[in-house]
Amino acid sequence: MKSKYSIGILGATGMVGQRFIQLLENHPWFEITWLAASDRSSGKLYGEAAKWRLDTPMPDRIARMTVAPADPAGAPKIIFAALDAGIARDLEPLFANAGCAVVSNSSAYRMAPNVPLVIPEINAEHLHLIEEQPSRRQSGGYMVTNPNCSTIGLVMALKPIEERFGIEQIFVATMQAISGAGYPGVPSMDILGNVIPYIGGEEEKMEAETLKLLGKLEGPAVTPLDARITAHCNRVAVEDGHTESVSIKLGNKLGRPITHDDILAAWADFHPLAGQGLPTAPAQPIEWTPQSDRPQPRLDRNRGNGMAVTVGRLRPCSLLDWKFTVVSHNTIRGAAGAAILNAELLASLNKLQ
Ligand SMILES: NC(=O)c1ccc[n+]([C@@H]2O[C@H](COP(=O)([O-])OP(=O)(O)OC[C@H]3O[C@@H](n4cnc5c(N)ncnc54)[C@H](OP(=O)(O)O)[C@@H]3O)[C@@H](O)[C@H]2O)c1
Repeated sequence: MKSKYSIGILGATGMVGQRFIQLLENHPWFEITWLAASDRSSGKLYGEAAKWRLDTPMPDRIARMTVAPADPAGAPKIIFAALDAGIARDLEPLFANAGCAVVSNSSAYRMAPNVPLVIPEINAEHLHLIEEQPSRRQSGGYMVTNPNCSTIGLVMALKPIEERFGIEQIFVATMQAISGAGYPGVPSMDILGNVIPYIGGEEEKMEAETLKLLGKLEGPAVTPLDARITAHCNRVAVEDGHTESVSIKLGNKLGRPITHDDILAAWADFHPLAGQGLPTAPAQPIEWTPQSDRPQPRLDRNRGNGMAVTVGRLRPCSLLDWKFTVVSHNTIRGAAGAAILNAELLASLNKLQ
């Protein structure tokens, strides 16, 4: 058997960093050999530095590793990055310039014209943008990003519809879990028994990222999807799993009205990664739930090991054409799992050499 790729995690002690550790524990292709975080943590054993928040035990091997400083010297050439955007803006290019493949969760470079914003099921061809990055030519290193946690669920549900019928307008209202704010995140006195109708920058990110992801790669840049989108983002007292209420106005690609069954078939037939052997790819990326009170975050977020998104409540919309609900796991499909799937795709394309 081919030996595993040696990988590092930047921001290893945070919410997303911990998910990386959990999801990579028995990964067939990747092995964690380096963990880094802030000066508060570096030099400590991971087991002392990290306040472990997940419901599986911290792996012993990881607990005994020493947290390294966030410096490319001594780091492996494949880096999963889970840093706040302000820190990522400075650190991620340092690693890319030092020859690393930086597979990032942060928003710092998602909208940069030469940085791919990728969901493997949606727009794998956008990965070609890494060849436009100066670091790729100079050191071989590059940056690849995955979208915001709320964007991923939305775009997964929209893509098969856009492909078959076209989409002209999108309205989305989110109910986002508190784990999306990192740790310690939103103070309990603010969120318990409450809804906070504001998440800084989130609506702008959802709107811009959705159109880039559904856009077309044309030469050295992506032309965003020509559609109108508006997002309302709310923080709710749910631990994990983002819920989104979506209304859409369809295009006229088929030249006839689109039925309930047409949309269900578009979701059911969506298997763009079938046969590619990517270990983290769910067999059924979009799962339909027919019950009238589903999907719900507590009941549906772990479908497909947290990598499937669940859609339900498809019904006519009296303002646009159709409306539905989507649930996705924000720290798995929306963060660490998304980056791992991106890295698996890069490996399968021989771009992790
Ligand atoms: N949570 C989600 O659902 C989610 C989803 C999608 C994307 N994201 C994005 O993923 C990124 C990480 O989010 P998170 O929720 O994991 O945040 P978090 O829990 O606050 O963790 C932040 C991590 O960054 C490290 N760090 C802080 N300052 C640093 C510095 N100067 N140098 C090196 N490392 C530093 C922290 O290390 P210390 O422990 O040493 O401070 C910690 O490991 C953010 O950009 C976020 O927007 C999060």
